[in-house]
Amino acid sequence: KMTLSKICCIGAGYVGGPSCAVIAQKCPDLTVTVVDLSAHRIDQWNSDTLPIFEPRLDEVVKACRGKNLFFSTDIDKGIREAELIFICVNTPTKTFGWGKGRAADLKYIESAARRIAEVAQNSKIVVEKSTVPVKAAESISNILSANVKPGVKYQVLSNPEFLAEGTAITDLLNPDRVLIGGEPTGEGSEAVKALSWIYEHWVPKENIITMNTWSSELSKLAANAFLAQRISSINAMSAICEATGADVDEVAHAVGTDSRIGPKFLKASVGFGGSCFKKDVLNMVYLCECLNLPEVAAYWQQVIDINEYQRRRFTMRIVQSLFNTITNKRITVLGFAFKKNTADTRESAAIHVCKYLLDEGAHVQIYDPKVPRDQIMSDLTMAEITDQPERVPELVTICPNAYEAAEKSHALVICTEWDEFQTLDYQRIYDKMLKPAFIFDGRLLLDHQQLMDIGFKVETIGKRLNRDQAKLVRTHANSTS
Ligand code: NAD
Ligand code: UDX
Repeated sequence: KMTLSKICCIGAGYVGGPSCAVIAQKCPDLTVTVVDLSAHRIDQWNSDTLPIFEPRLDEVVKACRGKNLFFSTDIDKGIREAELIFICVNTPTKTFGWGKGRAADLKYIESAARRIAEVAQNSKIVVEKSTVPVKAAESISNILSANVKPGVKYQVLSNPEFLAEGTAITDLLNPDRVLIGGEPTGEGSEAVKALSWIYEHWVPKENIITMNTWSSELSKLAANAFLAQRISSINAMSAICEATGADVDEVAHAVGTDSRIGPKFLKASVGFGGSCFKKDVLNMVYLCECLNLPEVAAYWQQVIDINEYQRRRFTMRIVQSLFNTITNKRITVLGFAFKKNTADTRESAAIHVCKYLLDEGAHVQIYDPKVPRDQIMSDLTMAEITDQPERVPELVTICPNAYEAAEKSHALVICTEWDEFQTLDYQRIYDKMLKPAFIFDGRLLLDHQQLMDIGFKVETIGKRLNRDQAKLVRTHANSTS
């Protein structure tokens, strides 16, 4: 029976960092080393200010760092000493060549695999934790075995990660399930057992599901596609609600109480963001196209299309409500992260809402409790967001709080569901704004009656609060679809 004492994780990002911190805390008998190419990232992991914000991450890292949890740039040493190696590198969407804009770019996975092959002096279990297309483990296996040294053997496992940002530590401590895919051979099942042993330190054995490698890889893409699909489905319903006078929260409640459907992930919004959903659904669309399954590809593509439609539709409503012009108007954007309790802005709906507002020549005053100024500026000056990056600093002001962001503004737009936005002094905000003062609640977060009582004109997703506006949007959306 194989016993583990040292493990290594290649990639110290949103997944590698928190998941290894939890493994180190739950497995005091293991030494866990997380390595990365980026010296800056590693320095941050070794400092008081961790590179990512996650509730409770600080306490877990502080409890183990320097004891059985180490962050290092010495990738080769990490690989050499470990019996088991997690690959947790990024797998972004390709921006060039075949599959551009859809396929996953596997260059970081491949370079990690080649590094392992080059420096390993004894047998290793290599665990693919990054989200990858089906059969990526086979490619890793091929690279390893083509470069194998005498006496060295590799087992490649798939062990996708299901944590969500903002709740990463809770998710890691209480996973719905842990998925392990391996080869159906004697050595394969030994490797599966060794990895399972790590999780058994805190996860009930019946929640650790083992299966063949390809099923495991596909299950990760499938889970993200189903989750994203639920959001696009409820967002599609929100458009029907706005056109008819139904209330999307009521519909979600009614639908979600069917035990076969369930209540989670039915919150209508300005659109899903985050580094995973769009990338992984597109990855699957591309996979379907490559497998000559165009109907299946088109089905999943719609999940992305509805998400983009939702962001456009919401922003169009802002422009229409503000008398069809926002040029030179000040608009307050509250929240820039893709969801609450994270500073991550990857694919955030706020980026796209701001893009549309800036394209119309509005001045945008942004406040987010966690996202740093430079991050917002770099997101809004990306090539796919603007072809006039020099205008962005003229039009965008980053504010230290919601009240300053509301100064002399025509409209306030909620893009992220931060708790603190629920307890702001909206009378004070109203007093600072130009009249009529509008609020566009892109997260169904606020007490709309209370806001209307103060005097705000309120618009939200999937709910008619003002009949004339609803009619306007319906006509326009039809004419531009
Ligand atoms: P990330 O960009 O935050 O981190 C990846 C890290 O890998 C970076 O720090 C990068 O410098 C490092 N890296 C890249 N190539 C390397 C190499 N050859 N050697 C050493 N280090 C290298 O990415 P992430 O958000 O942690 O995502 C990692 C993977 O996990 C992706 O495949 C993603 O789809 C998947 N995933 C992410 C989440 C999430 O919530 N972010 C959840 C589940 C799964
Ligand atoms: C997701 C998956 O949930 C996770 O299992 C996977 O490992 C990585 O991708 P993440 O992107 O971090 O996690 O956050 P998630 O909570 O899924 O939210 C994604 C986006 O959907 C956010 O922008 C969120 O605001 C939005 N969302 C979520 C909704 O608009 N409505 C909902 O009901 C739920």
